[in-house]
Amino acid sequence: MEQKINKKYSHIAVMKKEIIKYLKIKKNGIYVDATFGYGGHTKEILKKLGKNGKIYAIDKDPEIKKEAEKITDPRFYFIYGSFSKIYNYATKLGIKKKIDGILFDLGVSSPQLDNPKRGFSFINDGPLDMRMNQKNYISASKWLRKEKEKKIFIILKKYGEERYAKKIARAIKKQNKKKIITRTNELANLICSTIPKSKKKRKKHPATRSFQAIRIHVNQELKELDIALKNILDVMNKKSRILIISFHSLEDKKVKNFILNNSTYNNIPKKLSILENNLQKQKKIRLKNIKKISPNKNEIKKNPRSRSAILRVSETL
Ligand SMILES: C[S@@+](CC[C@H](N)C(=O)[O-])C[C@H]1O[C@@H](n2cnc3c(N)ncnc32)[C@H](O)[C@@H]1O
Repeated sequence: MEQKINKKYSHIAVMKKEIIKYLKIKKNGIYVDATFGYGGHTKEILKKLGKNGKIYAIDKDPEIKKEAEKITDPRFYFIYGSFSKIYNYATKLGIKKKIDGILFDLGVSSPQLDNPKRGFSFINDGPLDMRMNQKNYISASKWLRKEKEKKIFIILKKYGEERYAKKIARAIKKQNKKKIITRTNELANLICSTIPKSKKKRKKHPATRSFQAIRIHVNQELKELDIALKNILDVMNKKSRILIISFHSLEDKKVKNFILNNSTYNNIPKKLSILENNLQKQKKIRLKNIKKISPNKNEIKKNPRSRSAILRVSETL
Protein backbone atom coordinates (compact mmCIF):
# COMPACT_ATOMS: atom_id res chain seq x y z
CA MET A 1 0.00 0.00 0.00
CA GLU A 2 1.63 3.21 -1.17
CA GLN A 3 0.31 6.18 0.71
CA LYS A 4 1.58 9.70 0.25
CA ILE A 5 -0.55 11.94 2.38
CA ASN A 6 0.50 15.60 2.45
CA LYS A 7 4.25 14.98 2.24
CA LYS A 8 5.17 18.09 4.21
CA TYR A 9 3.90 16.54 7.44
CA SER A 10 4.47 12.99 8.60
CA HIS A 11 3.36 10.65 11.35
CA ILE A 12 5.38 7.90 13.00
CA ALA A 13 3.17 4.97 13.99
CA VAL A 14 3.78 3.94 17.62
CA MET A 15 4.67 0.44 18.86
CA LYS A 16 4.37 -1.09 15.39
CA LYS A 17 6.14 -4.33 16.34
CA GLU A 18 4.07 -4.78 19.48
CA ILE A 19 0.83 -4.13 17.58
CA ILE A 20 1.62 -6.83 15.05
CA LYS A 21 2.74 -9.27 17.74
CA TYR A 22 -0.37 -8.85 19.90
CA LEU A 23 -2.94 -8.65 17.12
CA LYS A 24 -2.03 -12.29 16.34
CA ILE A 25 -3.10 -11.80 12.74
CA LYS A 26 -4.87 -14.66 10.98
CA LYS A 27 -4.05 -14.69 7.26
CA ASN A 28 -7.68 -14.58 6.18
CA GLY A 29 -9.03 -12.69 9.16
CA ILE A 30 -11.06 -9.50 9.32
CA TYR A 31 -9.37 -6.54 11.03
CA VAL A 32 -10.37 -2.98 11.88
CA ASP A 33 -8.00 -0.04 12.23
CA ALA A 34 -10.37 2.34 14.03
CA THR A 35 -7.99 5.31 13.74
CA PHE A 36 -6.42 5.04 10.28
CA GLY A 37 -4.50 8.35 10.30
CA TYR A 38 -1.49 8.01 8.05
CA GLY A 39 -1.95 4.27 7.71
CA GLY A 40 1.23 3.30 9.56
CA HIS A 41 -0.44 0.42 11.40
CA THR A 42 -2.75 -0.60 8.55
CA LYS A 43 0.27 -0.95 6.29
CA GLU A 44 1.91 -3.39 8.74
CA ILE A 45 -1.32 -5.37 9.14
CA LEU A 46 -1.67 -5.66 5.36
CA LYS A 47 1.82 -7.16 5.16
CA LYS A 48 0.65 -10.01 7.39
CA LEU A 49 -2.74 -10.57 5.75
CA GLY A 50 -3.26 -13.17 3.07
CA LYS A 51 -5.16 -12.60 -0.16
CA ASN A 52 -8.53 -13.27 1.48
CA GLY A 53 -7.86 -11.17 4.55
CA LYS A 54 -9.54 -7.81 4.98
CA ILE A 55 -8.86 -4.58 6.82
CA TYR A 56 -11.50 -1.93 7.40
CA ALA A 57 -9.97 1.43 8.31
CA ILE A 58 -11.93 4.25 9.95
CA ASP A 59 -11.08 7.95 10.19
CA LYS A 60 -13.23 11.03 10.52
CA ASP A 61 -10.73 13.49 9.08
CA PRO A 62 -11.63 14.68 5.54
CA GLU A 63 -7.94 15.19 4.65
CA ILE A 64 -7.30 11.54 5.46
CA LYS A 65 -10.37 10.46 3.48
CA LYS A 66 -9.10 12.08 0.27
CA GLU A 67 -5.86 10.11 0.42
CA ALA A 68 -7.23 6.84 1.80
CA GLU A 69 -9.66 6.62 -1.09
CA LYS A 70 -6.76 6.52 -3.53
CA ILE A 71 -5.65 3.17 -2.08
CA THR A 72 -6.57 0.38 -4.46
CA ASP A 73 -5.57 -2.74 -2.50
CA PRO A 74 -8.72 -4.93 -2.64
CA ARG A 75 -8.16 -6.07 0.95
CA PHE A 76 -8.49 -2.47 2.17
CA TYR A 77 -11.80 -0.70 2.78
CA PHE A 78 -12.01 2.86 4.09
CA ILE A 79 -14.85 4.10 6.29
CA TYR A 80 -15.16 7.87 6.58
CA GLY A 81 -16.70 8.52 9.96
CA SER A 82 -16.40 8.20 13.73
CA PHE A 83 -15.29 5.02 15.45
CA SER A 84 -18.11 5.54 17.94
CA LYS A 85 -20.37 4.25 15.14
CA ILE A 86 -18.51 0.94 14.95
CA TYR A 87 -21.68 -1.06 15.67
CA ASN A 88 -23.55 0.57 12.75
CA TYR A 89 -20.64 0.11 10.36
CA ALA A 90 -20.13 -3.52 11.33
CA THR A 91 -23.85 -4.23 10.90
CA LYS A 92 -24.02 -2.49 7.52
CA LEU A 93 -20.91 -4.19 6.20
CA GLY A 94 -21.96 -7.63 7.45
CA ILE A 95 -18.93 -8.07 9.69
CA LYS A 96 -20.70 -8.03 13.07
CA LYS A 97 -19.26 -10.77 15.33
CA LYS A 98 -16.69 -11.52 12.61
CA ILE A 99 -13.94 -9.02 13.48
CA ASP A 100 -10.77 -10.86 14.52
CA GLY A 101 -8.85 -7.83 15.74
CA ILE A 102 -9.31 -4.12 16.24
CA LEU A 103 -6.84 -1.35 16.92
CA PHE A 104 -7.49 2.11 18.36
CA ASP A 105 -4.56 4.55 18.28
CA LEU A 106 -6.32 7.38 20.07
CA GLY A 107 -5.92 11.12 19.81
CA VAL A 108 -4.58 13.14 16.93
CA SER A 109 -1.85 12.50 14.37
CA SER A 110 1.33 14.57 14.11
CA PRO A 111 0.23 16.24 10.84
CA GLN A 112 -3.05 17.31 12.42
CA LEU A 113 -1.05 18.86 15.27
CA ASP A 114 1.68 20.38 13.12
CA ASN A 115 -0.27 21.82 10.19
CA PRO A 116 -1.16 25.36 11.36
CA LYS A 117 -4.24 25.41 9.11
CA ARG A 118 -5.86 22.78 11.35
CA GLY A 119 -5.69 25.12 14.34
CA PHE A 120 -4.08 22.73 16.87
CA SER A 121 -0.65 24.36 16.89
CA PHE A 122 0.47 26.80 19.56
CA ILE A 123 3.82 27.19 17.79
CA ASN A 124 2.63 28.08 14.28
CA ASP A 125 -0.24 30.49 13.88
CA GLY A 126 -3.50 29.36 12.35
CA PRO A 127 -7.28 29.64 12.77
CA LEU A 128 -8.31 28.52 16.25
CA ASP A 129 -10.28 25.49 15.11
CA MET A 130 -8.90 22.15 16.49
CA ARG A 131 -11.59 19.96 14.95
CA MET A 132 -10.62 16.67 13.34
CA ASN A 133 -13.72 17.12 11.20
CA GLN A 134 -15.20 20.54 10.70
CA LYS A 135 -18.70 19.09 10.26
CA ASN A 136 -18.58 17.77 13.83
CA TYR A 137 -19.10 19.95 16.87
CA ILE A 138 -17.96 23.60 17.00
CA SER A 139 -14.53 25.21 16.59
CA ALA A 140 -12.31 25.96 19.59
CA SER A 141 -12.73 29.70 18.97
CA LYS A 142 -16.52 29.48 18.98
CA TRP A 143 -16.56 27.22 22.02
CA LEU A 144 -14.37 29.59 24.05
CA ARG A 145 -16.60 32.48 23.00
CA LYS A 146 -19.86 30.76 23.96
CA GLU A 147 -18.82 28.80 27.04
CA LYS A 148 -19.06 29.97 30.65
CA GLU A 149 -15.82 30.76 32.47
CA LYS A 150 -16.46 28.02 35.04
CA LYS A 151 -16.87 25.30 32.41
CA ILE A 152 -13.68 26.43 30.60
CA PHE A 153 -11.88 26.24 33.95
CA ILE A 154 -13.21 22.71 34.57
CA ILE A 155 -12.12 21.51 31.11
CA LEU A 156 -8.62 23.01 31.45
CA LYS A 157 -8.25 21.47 34.88
CA LYS A 158 -9.73 18.05 34.12
CA TYR A 159 -8.38 17.34 30.63
CA GLY A 160 -5.17 19.38 30.84
CA GLU A 161 -4.38 19.20 34.57
CA GLU A 162 -3.49 22.88 34.11
CA ARG A 163 -2.41 24.46 37.38
CA TYR A 164 -3.41 27.93 36.24
CA ALA A 165 -6.76 26.84 34.79
CA LYS A 166 -8.72 29.45 36.74
CA LYS A 167 -6.51 32.36 35.67
CA ILE A 168 -6.44 31.20 32.06
CA ALA A 169 -10.22 30.73 31.88
CA ARG A 170 -10.72 34.23 33.31
CA ALA A 171 -8.21 35.75 30.88
CA ILE A 172 -9.92 34.04 27.91
CA LYS A 173 -13.34 35.39 28.84
CA LYS A 174 -11.94 38.87 29.47
CA GLN A 175 -10.12 38.93 26.13
CA ASN A 176 -13.13 37.60 24.23
CA LYS A 177 -15.17 40.54 25.51
CA LYS A 178 -12.62 42.96 24.02
CA LYS A 179 -11.84 41.08 20.82
CA ILE A 180 -12.76 37.50 19.97
CA ILE A 181 -9.79 35.11 19.96
CA THR A 182 -9.73 33.56 16.50
CA ARG A 183 -6.04 32.59 16.02
CA THR A 184 -3.92 29.96 17.78
CA ASN A 185 -1.15 32.50 18.41
CA GLU A 186 -3.54 34.88 20.13
CA LEU A 187 -4.59 32.13 22.53
CA ALA A 188 -1.02 30.84 23.06
CA ASN A 189 0.24 34.37 23.80
CA LEU A 190 -2.63 35.04 26.16
CA ILE A 191 -1.85 31.84 28.09
CA CYS A 192 1.86 32.75 28.23
CA SER A 193 1.06 36.18 29.60
CA THR A 194 -1.30 34.71 32.22
CA ILE A 195 1.10 32.17 33.70
CA PRO A 196 3.53 33.62 36.29
CA LYS A 197 6.94 34.42 34.79
CA SER A 198 8.94 32.13 37.11
CA LYS A 199 6.90 29.13 35.93
CA LYS A 200 7.50 29.78 32.26
CA LYS A 201 10.87 28.07 32.29
CA ARG A 202 9.22 24.64 32.43
CA LYS A 203 10.18 22.16 29.71
CA LYS A 204 6.82 22.21 27.94
CA HIS A 205 5.39 25.25 26.17
CA PRO A 206 3.07 26.98 28.68
CA ALA A 207 0.10 26.48 26.33
CA THR A 208 0.58 22.70 25.91
CA ARG A 209 -1.85 21.62 28.60
CA SER A 210 -4.58 24.11 27.72
CA PHE A 211 -4.41 23.29 24.02
CA GLN A 212 -4.62 19.58 24.81
CA ALA A 213 -7.63 20.10 27.06
CA ILE A 214 -9.48 22.27 24.54
CA ARG A 215 -8.75 19.78 21.74
CA ILE A 216 -10.11 16.85 23.79
CA HIS A 217 -13.25 18.80 24.59
CA VAL A 218 -13.85 20.22 21.10
CA ASN A 219 -13.64 16.74 19.54
CA GLN A 220 -15.53 15.06 22.42
CA GLU A 221 -12.73 12.49 22.47
CA LEU A 222 -13.69 10.85 25.77
CA LYS A 223 -17.34 10.56 24.80
CA GLU A 224 -16.35 8.97 21.47
CA LEU A 225 -14.24 6.44 23.36
CA ASP A 226 -17.05 5.68 25.85
CA ILE A 227 -19.51 4.90 23.05
CA ALA A 228 -16.99 2.73 21.20
CA LEU A 229 -16.17 0.76 24.36
CA LYS A 230 -19.85 0.22 25.04
CA ASN A 231 -20.39 -1.39 21.65
CA ILE A 232 -17.11 -3.04 20.86
CA LEU A 233 -17.77 -6.46 22.40
CA ASP A 234 -20.92 -6.86 20.30
CA VAL A 235 -19.01 -6.65 17.03
CA MET A 236 -16.00 -8.82 17.80
CA ASN A 237 -15.52 -12.48 16.93
CA LYS A 238 -14.71 -15.04 19.64
CA LYS A 239 -11.01 -15.13 20.59
CA SER A 240 -10.42 -11.81 18.86
CA ARG A 241 -7.96 -9.18 20.00
CA ILE A 242 -8.72 -5.61 21.12
CA LEU A 243 -5.71 -3.28 21.17
CA ILE A 244 -6.06 0.27 22.44
CA ILE A 245 -3.29 2.86 22.57
CA SER A 246 -4.05 5.89 24.70
CA PHE A 247 -2.01 9.02 25.34
CA HIS A 248 -3.97 10.59 28.16
CA SER A 249 -4.48 9.29 31.71
CA LEU A 250 -8.26 9.74 31.52
CA GLU A 251 -8.41 7.70 28.30
CA ASP A 252 -6.25 4.98 29.77
CA LYS A 253 -8.41 4.86 32.89
CA LYS A 254 -11.47 4.23 30.74
CA VAL A 255 -9.70 1.48 28.79
CA LYS A 256 -8.38 -0.12 31.97
CA ASN A 257 -11.85 -0.11 33.58
CA PHE A 258 -13.42 -1.51 30.43
CA ILE A 259 -11.02 -4.46 30.50
CA LEU A 260 -11.36 -4.92 34.25
CA ASN A 261 -15.17 -4.76 34.23
CA ASN A 262 -15.41 -7.33 31.49
CA SER A 263 -12.69 -9.69 32.66
CA THR A 264 -13.29 -10.01 36.40
CA TYR A 265 -16.09 -10.58 38.86
CA ASN A 266 -16.76 -7.92 41.47
CA ASN A 267 -14.33 -7.99 44.32
CA ILE A 268 -16.54 -9.31 47.09
CA PRO A 269 -15.29 -10.44 50.52
CA LYS A 270 -15.12 -14.24 50.90
CA LYS A 271 -17.70 -14.37 53.70
CA LEU A 272 -20.32 -13.10 51.28
CA SER A 273 -19.81 -16.11 49.10
CA ILE A 274 -23.52 -16.79 48.46
CA LEU A 275 -23.97 -13.28 47.17
CA GLU A 276 -20.78 -13.62 45.22
CA ASN A 277 -22.02 -16.82 43.68
CA ASN A 278 -25.22 -15.11 42.63
CA LEU A 279 -23.35 -12.21 41.13
CA GLN A 280 -21.02 -14.55 39.31
CA LYS A 281 -24.03 -16.23 37.78
CA GLN A 282 -25.44 -12.86 36.68
CA LYS A 283 -22.30 -11.30 35.32
CA LYS A 284 -20.91 -12.49 32.05
CA ILE A 285 -17.16 -12.48 31.69
CA ARG A 286 -16.42 -11.55 28.10
CA LEU A 287 -12.75 -10.62 28.04
CA LYS A 288 -9.32 -11.84 29.01
CA ASN A 289 -6.79 -9.21 30.04
CA ILE A 290 -3.59 -9.91 28.11
CA LYS A 291 -1.03 -7.17 28.61
CA LYS A 292 -0.19 -3.51 29.21
CA ILE A 293 2.75 -2.22 27.18
CA SER A 294 4.66 1.06 26.98
CA PRO A 295 7.11 2.06 24.24
CA ASN A 296 10.75 1.17 24.95
CA LYS A 297 13.48 3.77 25.51
CA ASN A 298 14.72 3.42 21.96
CA GLU A 299 11.32 4.22 20.48
CA ILE A 300 10.84 7.20 22.80
CA LYS A 301 14.24 8.52 21.74
CA LYS A 302 13.38 8.21 18.05
CA ASN A 303 9.81 9.44 18.48
CA PRO A 304 9.38 11.59 21.61
CA ARG A 305 5.63 11.87 20.93
CA SER A 306 5.34 8.16 21.80
CA ARG A 307 6.45 8.76 25.41
CA SER A 308 2.98 8.92 26.93
CA ALA A 309 1.55 6.00 24.93
CA ILE A 310 0.05 3.04 26.78
CA LEU A 311 -1.10 0.00 24.85
CA ARG A 312 -3.64 -2.32 26.48
CA VAL A 313 -4.33 -5.70 24.95
CA SER A 314 -7.32 -7.91 25.68
CA GLU A 315 -8.95 -10.92 24.06
CA THR A 316 -12.62 -11.82 23.73
CA LEU A 317 -13.75 -15.18 25.07
C1 LIG B 1 -2.92 8.93 16.42
S1 LIG B 1 -3.69 9.08 14.88
C2 LIG B 1 -3.57 7.47 14.19
C3 LIG B 1 -2.31 7.23 13.47
C4 LIG B 1 -2.25 5.92 12.72
N1 LIG B 1 -2.33 4.79 13.62
C5 LIG B 1 -0.99 5.84 11.90
O1 LIG B 1 -0.15 5.00 12.19
O2 LIG B 1 -0.84 6.63 10.97
C6 LIG B 1 -5.38 9.15 15.27
C7 LIG B 1 -6.30 9.25 14.07
O3 LIG B 1 -7.60 8.90 14.50
C8 LIG B 1 -8.54 9.80 13.99
N2 LIG B 1 -9.62 9.85 14.97
C9 LIG B 1 -9.56 10.33 16.23
N3 LIG B 1 -10.73 10.18 16.85
C10 LIG B 1 -11.55 9.57 15.96
C11 LIG B 1 -12.90 9.13 16.02
N4 LIG B 1 -13.63 9.29 17.11
N5 LIG B 1 -13.40 8.53 14.93
C12 LIG B 1 -12.65 8.35 13.81
N6 LIG B 1 -11.38 8.76 13.70
C13 LIG B 1 -10.83 9.36 14.76
C14 LIG B 1 -7.81 11.10 13.79
O4 LIG B 1 -8.41 11.85 12.76
C15 LIG B 1 -6.39 10.62 13.44
O5 LIG B 1 -6.22 10.56 12.05
